[in-house]
Amino acid sequence: MRPLFVAGRGGGRSRTVRRIRLVRPRRRGDRAAAEAIDRDQANLLGRTTAGSDFGVKIAIVGAAGGIGSSVAYTLALTGTGDELVLVDRREDVVQTHVWDLEQLRTAVRPFQVRAGSLADAVEADVVVFSAAVPPRKDSPRIEFLAENLAIARETGAALGAVPDWPGVLVVASNPVDPLVTELHRTTGIDRHRVLGYTVNDSVRLRYGIAEALHVQPHRVEAWVLGEHGDHCVPLFHNVQVDGEPVELNPAQRASAQAYLHEWYPRWVRLGVPRTSTWTSGNGIASMVRAIATGGENTWPTSMVLNGEYGITGTAVGVPARLDRDGASVLQWQLPADAWQRMRQAADYVEDALARISPASGRQRPTSAAGH
Ligand SMILES: NC(=O)c1ccc[n+]([C@@H]2O[C@H](COP(=O)([O-])OP(=O)(O)OC[C@H]3O[C@@H](n4cnc5c(N)ncnc54)[C@H](O)[C@@H]3O)[C@@H](O)[C@H]2O)c1
Repeated sequence: MRPLFVAGRGGGRSRTVRRIRLVRPRRRGDRAAAEAIDRDQANLLGRTTAGSDFGVKIAIVGAAGGIGSSVAYTLALTGTGDELVLVDRREDVVQTHVWDLEQLRTAVRPFQVRAGSLADAVEADVVVFSAAVPPRKDSPRIEFLAENLAIARETGAALGAVPDWPGVLVVASNPVDPLVTELHRTTGIDRHRVLGYTVNDSVRLRYGIAEALHVQPHRVEAWVLGEHGDHCVPLFHNVQVDGEPVELNPAQRASAQAYLHEWYPRWVRLGVPRTSTWTSGNGIASMVRAIATGGENTWPTSMVLNGEYGITGTAVGVPARLDRDGASVLQWQLPADAWQRMRQAADYVEDALARISPASGRQRPTSAAGH
Protein backbone atom coordinates (compact mmCIF):
# COMPACT_ATOMS: atom_id res chain seq x y z
CA MET A 1 0.00 0.00 0.00
CA ARG A 2 0.96 3.56 -0.70
CA PRO A 3 2.77 5.14 2.27
CA LEU A 4 1.79 8.67 3.13
CA PHE A 5 4.44 11.34 3.07
CA VAL A 6 3.85 14.77 4.42
CA ALA A 7 6.09 17.65 3.55
CA GLY A 8 7.13 19.88 6.41
CA ARG A 9 9.43 22.88 6.72
CA GLY A 10 12.83 22.05 8.14
CA GLY A 11 13.98 25.63 8.47
CA GLY A 12 15.35 28.10 5.98
CA ARG A 13 14.76 27.04 2.41
CA SER A 14 15.35 23.36 3.01
CA ARG A 15 12.42 20.98 3.20
CA THR A 16 12.32 17.75 5.11
CA VAL A 17 9.98 14.90 4.44
CA ARG A 18 8.58 13.00 7.39
CA ARG A 19 6.99 9.62 7.14
CA ILE A 20 3.67 9.25 8.94
CA ARG A 21 2.64 5.79 10.10
CA LEU A 22 -0.93 4.99 9.25
CA VAL A 23 -3.39 2.79 11.05
CA ARG A 24 -4.55 0.39 8.36
CA PRO A 25 -7.86 -1.43 8.22
CA ARG A 26 -7.50 -4.90 9.68
CA ARG A 27 -9.24 -6.66 6.82
CA ARG A 28 -6.71 -7.55 4.14
CA GLY A 29 -7.29 -6.31 0.65
CA ASP A 30 -9.61 -3.49 1.63
CA ARG A 31 -7.84 -1.08 -0.63
CA ALA A 32 -10.69 1.42 -0.87
CA ALA A 33 -10.84 1.82 2.90
CA ALA A 34 -7.07 2.21 3.12
CA GLU A 35 -7.10 4.88 0.43
CA ALA A 36 -9.90 6.68 2.21
CA ILE A 37 -7.76 6.72 5.35
CA ASP A 38 -4.83 8.00 3.31
CA ARG A 39 -6.97 10.86 2.08
CA ASP A 40 -8.33 11.62 5.54
CA GLN A 41 -4.86 11.56 7.04
CA ALA A 42 -3.64 13.81 4.28
CA ASN A 43 -6.36 16.27 5.10
CA LEU A 44 -5.67 16.13 8.80
CA LEU A 45 -1.92 16.20 8.71
CA GLY A 46 -0.96 17.79 5.44
CA ARG A 47 -1.86 21.08 3.90
CA THR A 48 -5.55 21.10 3.23
CA THR A 49 -6.84 22.29 -0.07
CA ALA A 50 -9.95 23.77 1.56
CA GLY A 51 -9.94 27.43 0.81
CA SER A 52 -12.05 30.34 -0.17
CA ASP A 53 -11.69 33.18 -2.58
CA PHE A 54 -13.66 35.69 -0.55
CA GLY A 55 -12.28 38.31 1.83
CA VAL A 56 -14.30 38.08 5.00
CA LYS A 57 -13.72 39.28 8.55
CA ILE A 58 -15.48 37.24 11.20
CA ALA A 59 -15.74 38.25 14.86
CA ILE A 60 -16.78 35.79 17.55
CA VAL A 61 -18.10 37.27 20.79
CA GLY A 62 -17.87 34.59 23.46
CA ALA A 63 -14.85 33.08 21.73
CA ALA A 64 -13.23 31.72 24.89
CA GLY A 65 -16.22 29.46 25.46
CA GLY A 66 -17.16 26.08 24.08
CA ILE A 67 -19.26 27.26 21.13
CA GLY A 68 -17.10 30.23 20.22
CA SER A 69 -13.85 28.29 20.20
CA SER A 70 -15.40 25.42 18.27
CA VAL A 71 -16.68 27.89 15.66
CA ALA A 72 -13.24 29.47 15.40
CA TYR A 73 -11.55 26.10 15.00
CA THR A 74 -14.02 24.94 12.35
CA LEU A 75 -13.76 28.21 10.43
CA ALA A 76 -9.98 27.91 10.45
CA LEU A 77 -10.00 24.30 9.30
CA THR A 78 -12.52 24.90 6.53
CA GLY A 79 -10.81 28.03 5.24
CA THR A 80 -13.78 30.26 5.97
CA GLY A 81 -12.87 33.87 6.55
CA ASP A 82 -9.60 35.69 6.07
CA GLU A 83 -9.56 37.29 9.50
CA LEU A 84 -10.89 35.83 12.73
CA VAL A 85 -11.24 38.15 15.69
CA LEU A 86 -11.86 36.50 19.05
CA VAL A 87 -13.68 38.54 21.69
CA ASP A 88 -14.42 37.43 25.25
CA ARG A 89 -14.18 38.88 28.72
CA ARG A 90 -11.85 35.99 29.60
CA GLU A 91 -8.90 37.56 27.79
CA ASP A 92 -6.33 35.02 28.97
CA VAL A 93 -8.34 32.11 27.57
CA VAL A 94 -8.83 33.99 24.29
CA GLN A 95 -5.08 34.46 24.07
CA THR A 96 -4.50 30.71 24.38
CA HIS A 97 -7.01 30.10 21.57
CA VAL A 98 -5.21 32.64 19.38
CA TRP A 99 -1.80 31.06 20.00
CA ASP A 100 -3.29 27.63 19.39
CA LEU A 101 -5.20 28.53 16.22
CA GLU A 102 -2.41 30.51 14.61
CA GLN A 103 -0.33 27.34 14.47
CA LEU A 104 -2.98 25.85 12.19
CA ARG A 105 -1.65 28.25 9.60
CA THR A 106 1.14 25.73 9.03
CA ALA A 107 -1.48 23.29 7.77
CA VAL A 108 -4.34 25.24 6.18
CA ARG A 109 -4.75 28.18 3.87
CA PRO A 110 -3.54 31.55 5.18
CA PHE A 111 -5.81 33.35 7.62
CA GLN A 112 -5.30 35.87 10.39
CA VAL A 113 -6.45 35.27 13.95
CA ARG A 114 -6.19 37.69 16.85
CA ALA A 115 -7.83 38.79 20.05
CA GLY A 116 -10.07 41.82 19.77
CA SER A 117 -12.89 43.87 21.22
CA LEU A 118 -16.40 44.91 20.31
CA ALA A 119 -14.83 47.74 18.30
CA ASP A 120 -13.46 45.03 15.99
CA ALA A 121 -16.83 43.27 15.87
CA VAL A 122 -18.40 46.43 14.48
CA GLU A 123 -16.07 46.17 11.47
CA ALA A 124 -16.70 42.48 10.86
CA ASP A 125 -18.73 41.11 7.97
CA VAL A 126 -20.19 38.42 10.21
CA VAL A 127 -20.42 38.51 14.00
CA VAL A 128 -21.11 35.26 15.84
CA PHE A 129 -22.56 35.92 19.29
CA SER A 130 -22.15 33.05 21.75
CA ALA A 131 -21.40 34.96 24.95
CA ALA A 132 -23.48 33.70 27.84
CA VAL A 133 -23.57 32.84 31.50
CA PRO A 134 -22.44 29.26 32.16
CA PRO A 135 -24.99 26.46 31.64
CA ARG A 136 -26.77 25.14 34.75
CA LYS A 137 -28.10 21.70 35.62
CA ASP A 138 -31.70 21.03 34.57
CA SER A 139 -32.23 24.60 33.38
CA PRO A 140 -34.47 25.24 30.37
CA ARG A 141 -33.01 27.60 27.80
CA ILE A 142 -35.61 30.27 28.57
CA GLU A 143 -34.30 30.54 32.13
CA PHE A 144 -31.21 32.35 30.79
CA LEU A 145 -33.12 35.10 29.03
CA ALA A 146 -32.57 38.02 31.41
CA GLU A 147 -28.90 37.20 32.06
CA ASN A 148 -27.92 36.58 28.45
CA LEU A 149 -29.95 39.52 27.19
CA ALA A 150 -27.93 41.77 29.49
CA ILE A 151 -24.74 40.43 27.88
CA ALA A 152 -26.18 40.62 24.36
CA ARG A 153 -27.15 44.26 24.81
CA GLU A 154 -23.45 45.22 24.97
CA THR A 155 -22.81 43.72 21.55
CA GLY A 156 -26.11 44.99 20.17
CA ALA A 157 -25.36 48.53 21.33
CA ALA A 158 -21.94 48.50 19.63
CA LEU A 159 -23.30 47.20 16.31
CA GLY A 160 -26.48 49.29 16.43
CA ALA A 161 -24.45 52.48 16.93
CA VAL A 162 -23.34 52.19 13.31
CA PRO A 163 -26.08 53.52 11.02
CA ASP A 164 -27.24 50.76 8.66
CA TRP A 165 -24.66 48.35 10.04
CA PRO A 166 -23.70 46.31 6.97
CA GLY A 167 -22.71 43.05 8.68
CA VAL A 168 -24.70 39.97 9.70
CA LEU A 169 -25.12 38.97 13.35
CA VAL A 170 -25.56 35.26 14.09
CA VAL A 171 -26.92 34.71 17.59
CA ALA A 172 -26.13 31.32 19.09
CA SER A 173 -26.73 32.14 22.75
CA ASN A 174 -29.94 30.94 24.34
CA PRO A 175 -32.77 31.54 24.34
CA VAL A 176 -32.18 32.31 20.68
CA ASP A 177 -35.57 33.61 19.52
CA PRO A 178 -36.23 36.14 22.32
CA LEU A 179 -32.64 37.39 22.04
CA VAL A 180 -32.96 37.90 18.28
CA THR A 181 -36.33 39.61 18.74
CA GLU A 182 -35.03 41.97 21.39
CA LEU A 183 -31.73 42.70 19.65
CA HIS A 184 -33.56 43.70 16.48
CA ARG A 185 -36.01 45.88 18.41
CA THR A 186 -33.49 47.68 20.54
CA THR A 187 -30.70 48.17 17.99
CA GLY A 188 -32.68 48.93 14.85
CA ILE A 189 -30.41 46.61 12.87
CA ASP A 190 -32.21 45.39 9.76
CA ARG A 191 -34.20 42.26 10.67
CA HIS A 192 -32.61 40.34 7.80
CA ARG A 193 -29.20 40.81 9.45
CA VAL A 194 -29.99 39.52 12.96
CA LEU A 195 -30.20 35.74 12.69
CA GLY A 196 -30.60 33.05 15.29
CA TYR A 197 -28.76 29.74 15.03
CA THR A 198 -31.45 27.01 15.14
CA VAL A 199 -29.93 24.40 12.85
CA ASN A 200 -29.45 21.89 15.68
CA ASP A 201 -33.19 21.22 15.91
CA SER A 202 -33.26 20.04 12.30
CA VAL A 203 -30.05 18.08 12.92
CA ARG A 204 -31.71 16.30 15.85
CA LEU A 205 -34.90 15.57 13.94
CA ARG A 206 -32.83 14.13 11.09
CA TYR A 207 -30.93 11.98 13.53
CA GLY A 208 -34.13 10.80 15.22
CA ILE A 209 -35.68 9.93 11.85
CA ALA A 210 -32.53 8.09 10.80
CA GLU A 211 -32.68 6.02 13.97
CA ALA A 212 -36.37 5.29 13.44
CA LEU A 213 -35.84 4.28 9.80
CA HIS A 214 -32.51 2.52 10.41
CA VAL A 215 -30.68 4.58 7.80
CA GLN A 216 -27.52 6.68 7.97
CA PRO A 217 -28.30 10.21 9.24
CA HIS A 218 -26.65 12.00 6.31
CA ARG A 219 -29.26 10.47 3.97
CA VAL A 220 -32.14 12.22 5.76
CA GLU A 221 -33.49 15.68 5.03
CA ALA A 222 -36.04 17.07 7.50
CA TRP A 223 -36.78 20.47 8.97
CA VAL A 224 -37.68 22.03 12.28
CA LEU A 225 -39.05 25.57 12.36
CA GLY A 226 -40.57 27.62 15.20
CA GLU A 227 -38.96 28.30 18.54
CA HIS A 228 -35.54 26.83 19.40
CA GLY A 229 -36.84 24.87 22.39
CA ASP A 230 -40.00 23.10 23.51
CA HIS A 231 -42.09 25.15 21.07
CA CYS A 232 -40.20 24.02 18.01
CA VAL A 233 -42.24 22.92 15.00
CA PRO A 234 -40.95 19.70 13.42
CA LEU A 235 -42.22 19.13 9.90
CA PHE A 236 -43.08 15.63 8.75
CA HIS A 237 -44.79 16.45 5.45
CA ASN A 238 -41.52 17.07 3.57
CA VAL A 239 -39.15 14.42 4.97
CA GLN A 240 -36.80 12.96 2.38
CA VAL A 241 -34.32 10.09 2.35
CA ASP A 242 -31.80 10.18 -0.48
CA GLY A 243 -33.85 12.98 -2.03
CA GLU A 244 -37.03 10.88 -2.19
CA PRO A 245 -40.16 11.75 -0.17
CA VAL A 246 -40.74 9.42 2.77
CA GLU A 247 -43.80 9.08 4.98
CA LEU A 248 -43.14 7.92 8.52
CA ASN A 249 -45.63 5.62 10.21
CA PRO A 250 -47.01 6.80 13.60
CA ALA A 251 -44.49 4.79 15.61
CA GLN A 252 -41.52 6.09 13.59
CA ARG A 253 -42.81 9.61 13.88
CA ALA A 254 -43.31 9.31 17.64
CA SER A 255 -39.81 7.90 18.02
CA ALA A 256 -38.24 10.76 16.01
CA GLN A 257 -40.28 13.36 17.94
CA ALA A 258 -39.20 11.83 21.23
CA TYR A 259 -35.54 12.00 20.20
CA LEU A 260 -35.93 15.66 19.25
CA HIS A 261 -37.80 16.72 22.38
CA GLU A 262 -35.86 14.65 24.91
CA TRP A 263 -32.44 15.62 23.63
CA TYR A 264 -32.01 18.83 25.62
CA PRO A 265 -33.51 17.67 28.97
CA ARG A 266 -31.41 14.52 28.80
CA TRP A 267 -28.27 16.61 28.29
CA VAL A 268 -28.86 19.22 31.02
CA ARG A 269 -29.93 16.51 33.50
CA LEU A 270 -26.26 15.49 33.61
CA GLY A 271 -25.31 18.89 34.97
CA VAL A 272 -22.13 19.01 32.90
CA PRO A 273 -21.20 22.64 32.21
CA ARG A 274 -20.71 22.19 28.47
CA THR A 275 -23.04 22.50 25.50
CA SER A 276 -23.13 20.77 22.10
CA THR A 277 -19.95 22.41 20.96
CA TRP A 278 -18.99 20.16 18.03
CA THR A 279 -22.42 20.04 16.38
CA SER A 280 -22.96 23.74 16.93
CA GLY A 281 -19.42 24.73 15.94
CA ASN A 282 -19.82 22.89 12.68
CA GLY A 283 -23.34 24.22 12.08
CA ILE A 284 -22.52 27.82 12.88
CA ALA A 285 -19.34 27.76 10.79
CA SER A 286 -21.34 26.31 7.88
CA MET A 287 -23.94 29.03 8.31
CA VAL A 288 -21.22 31.70 8.34
CA ARG A 289 -19.79 30.22 5.15
CA ALA A 290 -23.24 30.32 3.54
CA ILE A 291 -23.58 33.98 4.52
CA ALA A 292 -20.14 34.75 3.11
CA THR A 293 -20.61 32.93 -0.17
CA GLY A 294 -24.38 33.06 -0.78
CA GLY A 295 -25.97 30.39 -2.90
CA GLU A 296 -29.09 28.35 -3.30
CA ASN A 297 -28.98 26.36 -0.07
CA THR A 298 -31.87 26.55 2.38
CA TRP A 299 -31.20 27.17 6.07
CA PRO A 300 -33.46 27.22 9.08
CA THR A 301 -32.82 30.44 10.97
CA SER A 302 -34.61 32.55 13.54
CA MET A 303 -35.37 36.06 12.37
CA VAL A 304 -37.95 38.72 13.09
CA LEU A 305 -40.86 38.23 10.72
CA ASN A 306 -42.94 40.81 8.95
CA GLY A 307 -46.11 38.95 8.09
CA GLU A 308 -44.43 35.77 6.92
CA TYR A 309 -46.09 32.70 8.45
CA GLY A 310 -48.72 35.02 9.89
CA ILE A 311 -46.26 36.53 12.39
CA THR A 312 -45.21 40.13 12.72
CA GLY A 313 -42.52 41.60 14.95
CA THR A 314 -41.29 38.37 16.57
CA ALA A 315 -38.41 36.03 15.71
CA VAL A 316 -38.93 32.30 15.26
CA GLY A 317 -37.18 29.78 13.04
CA VAL A 318 -38.12 29.86 9.36
CA PRO A 319 -36.54 28.54 6.15
CA ALA A 320 -34.32 31.11 4.45
CA ARG A 321 -31.61 31.76 1.90
CA LEU A 322 -28.42 33.30 3.24
CA ASP A 323 -25.94 35.73 1.74
CA ARG A 324 -23.97 38.85 2.64
CA ASP A 325 -27.22 40.78 3.10
CA GLY A 326 -28.42 38.26 5.69
CA ALA A 327 -31.49 36.07 5.30
CA SER A 328 -34.40 36.11 2.85
CA VAL A 329 -37.39 34.18 4.16
CA LEU A 330 -38.75 31.33 2.07
CA GLN A 331 -42.52 31.05 2.34
CA TRP A 332 -43.28 27.34 2.51
CA GLN A 333 -46.77 25.88 2.41
CA LEU A 334 -47.21 24.33 5.85
CA PRO A 335 -49.85 21.88 7.07
CA ALA A 336 -52.56 23.61 9.15
CA ASP A 337 -51.30 22.24 12.48
CA ALA A 338 -47.73 23.41 11.78
CA TRP A 339 -49.02 26.82 10.76
CA GLN A 340 -50.88 27.11 14.05
CA ARG A 341 -47.85 25.95 16.04
CA MET A 342 -45.69 28.61 14.39
CA ARG A 343 -48.05 31.20 15.86
CA GLN A 344 -47.95 29.51 19.25
CA ALA A 345 -44.14 29.56 19.11
CA ALA A 346 -44.20 33.31 18.47
CA ASP A 347 -46.65 33.79 21.36
CA TYR A 348 -44.31 31.87 23.63
CA VAL A 349 -41.39 34.13 22.66
CA GLU A 350 -43.48 37.24 23.31
CA ASP A 351 -44.67 35.94 26.67
CA ALA A 352 -41.09 35.22 27.73
CA LEU A 353 -40.03 38.75 26.82
CA ALA A 354 -43.05 40.26 28.54
CA ARG A 355 -42.18 38.38 31.74
CA ILE A 356 -38.75 40.00 32.00
CA SER A 357 -39.88 43.45 30.86
CA PRO A 358 -43.66 43.84 30.99
CA ALA A 359 -43.62 47.60 30.42
CA SER A 360 -41.70 47.71 27.21
CA GLY A 361 -44.80 47.85 24.99
CA ARG A 362 -43.90 45.01 22.68
CA GLN A 363 -46.33 44.10 19.98
CA ARG A 364 -47.83 40.63 19.94
CA PRO A 365 -47.80 38.62 16.74
CA THR A 366 -50.68 39.69 14.55
CA SER A 367 -53.33 37.33 13.26
CA ALA A 368 -53.25 36.34 9.66
CA ALA A 369 -55.48 34.13 7.63
CA GLY A 370 -54.26 31.22 5.53
CA HIS A 371 -50.98 29.35 5.75
N1 LIG B 1 -28.39 27.86 19.41
C1 LIG B 1 -27.94 26.65 19.66
O1 LIG B 1 -28.26 25.67 18.98
C2 LIG B 1 -26.98 26.46 20.79
C3 LIG B 1 -26.23 25.27 20.92
C4 LIG B 1 -25.35 25.16 21.98
C5 LIG B 1 -25.21 26.20 22.90
N2 LIG B 1 -25.96 27.32 22.75
C6 LIG B 1 -25.86 28.45 23.66
O2 LIG B 1 -24.67 29.17 23.37
C7 LIG B 1 -24.25 29.87 24.53
C8 LIG B 1 -22.78 29.63 24.77
O3 LIG B 1 -22.55 28.27 25.02
P1 LIG B 1 -21.05 27.80 25.40
O4 LIG B 1 -21.10 26.33 25.52
O5 LIG B 1 -20.08 28.42 24.48
O6 LIG B 1 -20.90 28.47 26.85
P2 LIG B 1 -19.54 28.82 27.58
O7 LIG B 1 -19.89 29.10 29.00
O8 LIG B 1 -18.52 27.79 27.29
O9 LIG B 1 -19.04 30.18 26.86
C9 LIG B 1 -19.66 31.42 27.05
C10 LIG B 1 -18.59 32.47 26.94
O10 LIG B 1 -19.21 33.76 27.02
C11 LIG B 1 -18.26 34.60 27.69
N3 LIG B 1 -18.90 35.81 28.18
C12 LIG B 1 -19.79 35.94 29.18
N4 LIG B 1 -20.12 37.22 29.33
C13 LIG B 1 -19.44 37.91 28.40
C14 LIG B 1 -19.36 39.29 28.07
N5 LIG B 1 -20.08 40.22 28.73
N6 LIG B 1 -18.56 39.65 27.04
C15 LIG B 1 -17.82 38.74 26.39
N7 LIG B 1 -17.86 37.42 26.67
C16 LIG B 1 -18.64 37.03 27.66
C17 LIG B 1 -17.70 33.73 28.78
O11 LIG B 1 -16.47 34.24 29.28
C18 LIG B 1 -17.55 32.40 28.06
O12 LIG B 1 -16.26 32.26 27.52
C19 LIG B 1 -25.18 29.40 25.65
O13 LIG B 1 -26.22 30.32 25.81
C20 LIG B 1 -25.72 28.09 25.11
O14 LIG B 1 -26.96 27.74 25.67
C21 LIG B 1 -26.83 27.46 21.71
